Amino acid sequence: MTTQKHGGYDFVVVSNRLPVDRVIAPNGDASWQHSPGGLVTALEPVMRATDGAWVGWTGQPDLEFDPFVSDGIRIVPVALSPDDVENYYEGFSNDTLWPLYHDVIAPPSYHREWWESYVAVNQRFADAAIAVAAQGAVVWVQDYQLQLVPKMLRTARPDLTIGFFNHIPFPPYGIYSQLPWRTQIIDGLLGADVIGFQRVADAANFSRAARRLLGYVTKYPYIEVPGEGTAETPARRVLAKAFPISIDSSAFEELARKPEIQARAKEIRAGLGNPKIVMLGVDRLDYTKGIGHRLKAFGELLEEGRLNVQDVTLVQVANPSRERVAAYMQLRDEIELTVGRINGDFGTMSHQAISYHHHGYPRDEMVALYLAADVMLVTALRDGMNLVAKEYVASRFDNDGVLVLSEFTGASDELRRSLRINPHDIDGLKDAIVQATEMPLVERQRRMRSMRKLVLRNDVARWSAEFLAALRSAGADNSGEPVEPVEEEDPLGELEWTIERIRHR
Ligand code: F6P
Repeated sequence: MTTQKHGGYDFVVVSNRLPVDRVIAPNGDASWQHSPGGLVTALEPVMRATDGAWVGWTGQPDLEFDPFVSDGIRIVPVALSPDDVENYYEGFSNDTLWPLYHDVIAPPSYHREWWESYVAVNQRFADAAIAVAAQGAVVWVQDYQLQLVPKMLRTARPDLTIGFFNHIPFPPYGIYSQLPWRTQIIDGLLGADVIGFQRVADAANFSRAARRLLGYVTKYPYIEVPGEGTAETPARRVLAKAFPISIDSSAFEELARKPEIQARAKEIRAGLGNPKIVMLGVDRLDYTKGIGHRLKAFGELLEEGRLNVQDVTLVQVANPSRERVAAYMQLRDEIELTVGRINGDFGTMSHQAISYHHHGYPRDEMVALYLAADVMLVTALRDGMNLVAKEYVASRFDNDGVLVLSEFTGASDELRRSLRINPHDIDGLKDAIVQATEMPLVERQRRMRSMRKLVLRNDVARWSAEFLAALRSAGADNSGEPVEPVEEEDPLGELEWTIERIRHR
């Protein structure tokens, strides 16, 4: 680790979490370890390839550090107090916005003190980015925790080109309009030149909210933001469209091809008692992931004798997440009770129905698990993308394995050759699980080959290159020259949305 100069970076990423975690070894030595997770996986390769800085929280309360370099990435830590963690992170981000943006699967809580903390902490992130961004730099803000940052950056630094990417869904207006601070959030996001979403439907929902709440003229994929009559605040055209995120696909394939990983996959199967079929679920322990629905379907199949515990084992990796938020504590209790019941009812001395793991694993072990799994179950009730589905596909260089995939994930827009299910339809889910266990090899290969082509082509490098190219051209367009007004939204606009949606099916 080396200490670096402050300021002067041409490319700045701002996200709630830094790509590194502070880890204390048993002997008391502290070090920074690269943290797993979709966002980090997505952006790490881009950061390494550019001379950029990454602004974010250290992940623990009251940890203050000067900027440093870790594994080739310049890190600019933002400190959060215990109150900030409670009100901004656990409260407004994960108990207001998270459930609201995931179609109110759990009820969102609205508290004014949480909102005040969200505004204050967003300003702190914005200030940290402002301090390190060079004149005319590109700043790329990530995710729902920081939706006010784009406008804060623009107000202080009109020279910057600003991007924002929303990793989670953006809800339909009928749901979004519940939010007491709905107008401020839209206004905050519209400080960006480019706003990226996972799906076309998310971009459409956002655009509609901008139209309804601020009266702005929208025509896919643009939103026209009027100026305030001064040279510093000219009219701007904001690009709001879908940029579906992906993974470092070839890295997963490379790992899967390693003999030691394949040996480990065999060892995992042997450890499970060599069942005919290994099923796998890998999720953050979150109520959006439909883990309960998956367990219900699996339990009923065992009960009805359509699956047999001698033949089939379900491995469920449930990564601990947001453990101080009440809805997550309750979910853990429910899931673990269900796992215990199913194992108690159906397990034998030699075969467990569910092998349950309440912790994360390093990537090597995950890839071995993907190779060991005949069937991958992704049953999310709502998910921005679901990178686990893509990781499974990227790892299966043998063109085998069946992906059962919820149609409520962003990934299902692309992975059309998966077995697509509605997780609320337990009978439909059960049928799909049985179909997956009985699918002939030729069909498994045909489906997997086609999904692999897509995942290997549309990888994270392409995602970031496309976003950054859009950002560069938007930055040039919004250089202060007056913009030609776009036409008012008309009924044909809706048709365009529909056509765009169909194209993505
Ligand atoms: O994409 C959703 C997201 O909240 C990311 O911002 C984050 O990296 C990941 O899920 C894990 O969540 P958390 O940072 O709250 O543990």
